[in-house]
Amino acid sequence: MRSFEKFRIPHVVFGYGAAEQTGEKVKYLGGTKCLVVTDPGVIKAGIYEPIVKTLEEAGIEYITYDKTLPNPPDYICMEAAEILKKEKCDCTIAIGGGSSIDTAKAANLIANIDEEIVSLHDYSGTGTKMKPSFNRSVKFLAIPTTSGTGAEVTVSSVITDTRLNLKYSFMNENMVADMVIIDPALTMGMPPKPSAIVGLDALSHALEVVISVKQNDFSSMLAFDCIERIWKWLPVVYRDPKNVEARSQMSYAANMAESTGGGANAHCVGHAIGAKYHIVHGHACIMAEPTLIRHHADASTENIRKLASIVGVPNIGTNKEVADYVADAILNFYKSFGLGTFRETMEANGFHDDKQTFTEKLIPAILDDFKSRGWVPPIDKPEDRDNLVRVCEMIYDEE
Ligand SMILES: [Fe+2]
Repeated sequence: MRSFEKFRIPHVVFGYGAAEQTGEKVKYLGGTKCLVVTDPGVIKAGIYEPIVKTLEEAGIEYITYDKTLPNPPDYICMEAAEILKKEKCDCTIAIGGGSSIDTAKAANLIANIDEEIVSLHDYSGTGTKMKPSFNRSVKFLAIPTTSGTGAEVTVSSVITDTRLNLKYSFMNENMVADMVIIDPALTMGMPPKPSAIVGLDALSHALEVVISVKQNDFSSMLAFDCIERIWKWLPVVYRDPKNVEARSQMSYAANMAESTGGGANAHCVGHAIGAKYHIVHGHACIMAEPTLIRHHADASTENIRKLASIVGVPNIGTNKEVADYVADAILNFYKSFGLGTFRETMEANGFHDDKQTFTEKLIPAILDDFKSRGWVPPIDKPEDRDNLVRVCEMIYDEE
């Protein structure tokens, strides 16, 4: 059996209406003054108000930071950390999608780094300043309002370096939430297309686990189950966004897909594509998957063949043929939600790079992300780089 290492998983409270327990759960954690990290969209959607009301009812003081932005910029994380320190809060509550959760998660640690931070990127995997001994001094409760990112269970925040225009992982095991409340009711108002895009992010997390060279028995067990659920229920959410069972299945699958231990290569590629071509995270990641499945045809044969039965394509023929069937099924799956391939989306976003320019732009950003994750075999031999060029070219050519 393959060896593996498993990060901590938070205490999870799952259920329709579970967010009504927020005040009570903060009390259980020992919180008395909370910083609530969210964004204006969550407030406008009517999700924020009933949750903070439970804090008031429980006699818990709170202040709200609602300036989080998509692809959390470094300066926003620093600003939230400053407020946390200044207000002497003893608990952080993130209410939102991956951006609010990642902002809160990073702010919790930054607030406790007792040295002057010149650039937050120095604390990424490619920097030298992050120490495992850094810890947070506040309790942390995460309440996702979307079903996809799984940010509530991960050990890292994906942060945008606004100077270098790069996304990187800010990672420390002590950032993991103490508690997560997963309430599918909070996702009901999300329109079909954004729901599909975040759901495809969850699908990417699970797919990356099963084709990864680091997959293990624990992670694969969860990941295959998540893929089955997403394959069945995401189209239902897309057609019928008020379907309680479909929303519940997606909330569960999104959380479990990241509880496996996290994404892999397609996320490194997706982060690079997202940053360079302004493509939203879930879409940017899923568009790398078909290529990576084709690329792993021989390295992950057994799991790709298992995927064939889940996605309903033939499991007969050579490894390459089966990988192509599976890859085409994933491509058609994401197109069924009205999403374009890389080239179509790049052009729709006003870019007209040719294949070579695309590859040259992408590789340094991918390598930065590879290094900051620390678990992918290092890409330092000439043949590894040739592989990376081939992968980029294949993504460009997927139709
Ligand atoms: Fe993701």
